[in-house]
Amino acid sequence: MTTRHFLTLLDLSPQELKTLVQRAIELKRMQRAGEIYEPFKNRVMSMIFEKSSTRTRVSFEAGMAQFGGHAMFLSPRDTQLGRGEPVADSARVISSMVDIVMIRTFSHELVQEFAANSSVPVINALTDDYHPCQLLADMQAFAEHRGDITGCTVTWIGDGNNMCNSYINAARQFGFKLNIACPEGFEPDAALVEANADRVTVMRDPVAAVKNSSLVVTDVWASMGQEEEQKQREAAFASYQVNEALLDKAADDVIFMHCLPAHRGEEISETLLDDPRSVAFDEAENRLHAQKALIEFLLTQ
Ligand code: CP
Ligand code: NVA
Repeated sequence: MTTRHFLTLLDLSPQELKTLVQRAIELKRMQRAGEIYEPFKNRVMSMIFEKSSTRTRVSFEAGMAQFGGHAMFLSPRDTQLGRGEPVADSARVISSMVDIVMIRTFSHELVQEFAANSSVPVINALTDDYHPCQLLADMQAFAEHRGDITGCTVTWIGDGNNMCNSYINAARQFGFKLNIACPEGFEPDAALVEANADRVTVMRDPVAAVKNSSLVVTDVWASMGQEEEQKQREAAFASYQVNEALLDKAADDVIFMHCLPAHRGEEISETLLDDPRSVAFDEAENRLHAQKALIEFLLTQ
């Protein structure tokens, strides 16, 4: 049997993703009802973080604890990975001792190389190119607030970054239409757009992009690793802020998501996260439930 990994949304079939989102909703109900569910006693997850995190670390660590297992935080400052031990060697060693591995890093190729040399499932917890775990939480939040997303129009506003690339994969796997409004020079992966041209449209005008949209999403203008481009990006994205007035141009029942952390006054207005149309904090909580569903899926293959 081959080991299943979760490096992008394309690693699971549309049906598997759909089932996983429903399972996440059930795990959330169980957690809120105080039901103890510990199917993974003595199972261990290694969490390798080369970039900062609040939600990802807390959700994976809490999720493993709730499952009766354990999560181990590894930083490159303290491991031999940070001193240049080859990724393949690290993968062989770490995966020989734990049951599942989560990695947040810069290079997507590093995660692919780790997975290729790992004997246990590997989860991509964000690379420069993709953030698939966030999409599980987002799809769960949409299902909870609005039901089936199939056939809906979704709009991404802002940088064509790791989250935007993952929304393109989600458009394919969950069957929705995706409008992307971004400034010239900040488009998502060109090959990915091309491969999904039947459902993805890159535009310049945010107002045109949100028309008839059931979901509007944005993210920071400068991602982790792009801090020195902050000023230049603020200028380039100045007309791409998502605010209440822009949401007014979308469908009447539109909801707004942001993976967080957010910069109020930049990519969103100061007050948008308090608007009744924002579900960003439900979305954040869902990281816990959706990733528990993912861990359960990968550990029971
Ligand atoms: N959305 C998200 O991945 O948040 P963290 O960077 O806090 O993990
Ligand atoms: N695009 C952001 C997402 C953070 C969760 C980043 O990569 O920094």
